[in-house]
Amino acid sequence: MADSRIAGCFVVDHPLVRSKIAVLRSRDTSCEQFRRTLHELTTLIAFEATRDLLTKNIEVETPLARCAGHRLAHPVTIVPILRAGLGMAEALWDVIPEARVGHVGMYRDEKTLRPKSYYFKTPPDLAETDVFLVDPMLATGHSASDAATELKSSRVTSLRLMAMVGCVEGVTRFRKNHPDVPVYLAVLDEHLNDQAYILPGLGDAGDRYFGT
Ligand code: URA
Repeated sequence: MADSRIAGCFVVDHPLVRSKIAVLRSRDTSCEQFRRTLHELTTLIAFEATRDLLTKNIEVETPLARCAGHRLAHPVTIVPILRAGLGMAEALWDVIPEARVGHVGMYRDEKTLRPKSYYFKTPPDLAETDVFLVDPMLATGHSASDAATELKSSRVTSLRLMAMVGCVEGVTRFRKNHPDVPVYLAVLDEHLNDQAYILPGLGDAGDRYFGT
């Protein structure tokens, strides 16, 4: 459902999402539990983020009879922003196993707090696919914006951004730069601190996922 604060931002408001977000946020959650919960949440967010994918009619033979069925009309590409996006990509790949996976490498320059791109590798037919850009934290919105710009330079037209925790400033920036790209989140927080971490957020998603 759309968040009334920002057009084009969909916060998946559901009891399972709300309770799992509390697990992700808690400092007492172990690395293993964090990983498992991030996967589960990604699957729940994917349910909304994939809702408007087009399907084709097909015929299926059950052991008993022929019947009408469906399959996705276009190939899907999942593009995690390295490194924290890898966890969401794995989980999304589990529910769309036929998808291909591209990678965008961005790191945050700790002085300027701006992203620097160091890697971009995607399937050759990227432009003909429905692309899901994934990164758990939409903080300043700079990395996601730059990644979306890189994808559009490769002629991507069907693009969606999936994150876990967003903040108003980052989502607003992203939507201003990419008003054609919907954003799907588990929760929208209000603040960024002076180190560009989301408050209350969940800390460093990559560190918590990989145990670094
Ligand atoms: N990246 C993170 O991992 N956490 C934040 O709060 C912001 C950016």
